[in-house]
Amino acid sequence: MRKIAIFYAFLANLYALQIPLVPPEQDSFYLPPPNFELAPLGSILRVRPTPNKLVNICFTFEIKRSWQILYRSQNSVGKPTAIVMTIMEPYNSHPSRVLSYQTFQDSANINCSPSYGFQYGAPLSTITSQLDMRFLVPALKQGYYIISSDYEGFNSSFVAGRQSGNAVLDGVRAALQSQRTTGIESTAKVALWGYSGGSIASGWAACLQPTYAPELKQNLLGCALGGFVTNITATAEITDGGFFAGLIPLALHGLSNEYQEFKRVLNENMDPQHVDFFSQGSERCFAGGLHFFKSRSFFSGVNRTFPRGFDLLHDGTIGKIIQDNCVCHLDRTFLPQIPIFLYHGLFDEVVPILGPRHIFQQWCSWGIESLEFAEDLLTAHVGQQIVGAAAAWTWIENLFNGAKPIKGCEYTQRLNNLYFYPGVEQETKEYFLGFEFSILDYIFGGKAFDISVV
Ligand SMILES: *[C@@H]1O[C@H](CO)[C@@H](O)[C@H](O)[C@H]1NC(C)=O
Ligand SMILES: *[C@@H]1O[C@H](CO)[C@@H](O)[C@H](O)[C@H]1NC(C)=O
Ligand SMILES: *[C@@H]1O[C@H](CO)[C@@H](O)[C@H](O)[C@H]1NC(C)=O
Repeated sequence: MRKIAIFYAFLANLYALQIPLVPPEQDSFYLPPPNFELAPLGSILRVRPTPNKLVNICFTFEIKRSWQILYRSQNSVGKPTAIVMTIMEPYNSHPSRVLSYQTFQDSANINCSPSYGFQYGAPLSTITSQLDMRFLVPALKQGYYIISSDYEGFNSSFVAGRQSGNAVLDGVRAALQSQRTTGIESTAKVALWGYSGGSIASGWAACLQPTYAPELKQNLLGCALGGFVTNITATAEITDGGFFAGLIPLALHGLSNEYQEFKRVLNENMDPQHVDFFSQGSERCFAGGLHFFKSRSFFSGVNRTFPRGFDLLHDGTIGKIIQDNCVCHLDRTFLPQIPIFLYHGLFDEVVPILGPRHIFQQWCSWGIESLEFAEDLLTAHVGQQIVGAAAAWTWIENLFNGAKPIKGCEYTQRLNNLYFYPGVEQETKEYFLGFEFSILDYIFGGKAFDISVV
């Protein structure tokens, strides 16, 4: 019976393929229309139904409708830009409930954009977008609209904090103006959520909101951040030479895309032998990048790409730009005004827990209104994405259901965020426990779960 169902799902997919997908690089939808810079931030510039159905690995995603919206935003230095966002409407849609889910693109090439990768017919290189879509299923089942932007922007500026945060906030603005197309009410409530690369965009959005989009305070219920990247240098140090080493060239290309002078100084400091090898970082999407650069050393070891080593990241032009893109260097003007939920695995080998612990102390000492930290004592980075999602989703649903977020600060260590976070429903537990670890294991070469215990 199950086999037959799978076969029919497969057939349905074949028929769902109506037009071949055009990669974003060649798709004029992604280009801002003339005079777009005159439109206010968050204005909708173009709309279309997604060219193909959305899929989750090999099954179509059971939703009512989906669109892509191009909207006006601005990059890290205030230059006008246009961003593409995907909007998903579930069958039993609730026009006042929106989840803004920032997926981890983690790469510096526009052809790795989530809006493209979410669809049937997207190349295997974008597979992590579809893997990440599995986190949306509980929300869709409960009738939430999902919005998910290509927050890295037209230049694919991976780890550019302001570009990403601006894009998320303008995406919320655009969604709240999209009622005629999508049915989303202008007074809808919105929660932000992101893990790892997605936490950069979501975290920056929360920090920039008070100054960049003060009017959104009435819509934004809160922001859940997992594997929260607050300090890029710390991630570079811990990943160099290891399984996640590929994040380094992908991120350096991302910043090079946003800042010309970053690119120039980086090139001046590169061992000439490594130029071709390093340039692959602007070509590859996340999964391919991890595979290609696995175990490579960029700042340490004998044959490193940057002979100056980690010092390069600490001073001069490079140091200044990296500082500008770390949440840990923001002053209290950027203290989030919306409730924040942090969840993190103690053994995180990509984002050392010291970073989010430090930000917790910082924000609490500045008097943040509501900040909850759920530390998980058993997991590392990939494991916590799954286990912690049960807690994050529960926290988000509670807010939508009218629960009051905690007052002030609360830091709790639990053995496991899925089993022990209070109020996680059985269905949520079972859903996240049922994730296909084998697929991830396959992509990540079986290394990702060394210390993750689920
Ligand atoms: C994209 O990069 C190009 C080349 O560096 C730059 O001229 C342009 O301003 C950037 N655009 C945006 C929107 O960031
Ligand atoms: C960021 O991480 C680097 C590398 O571990 C460390 O030297 C620096 O002190 C950290 N910055 C902050 C503000 O915590
Ligand atoms: C150093 O690494 C680069 C890039 O992978 C490679 O092309 C080169 O052959 C290596 N050199 C040595 C001496 O191993």
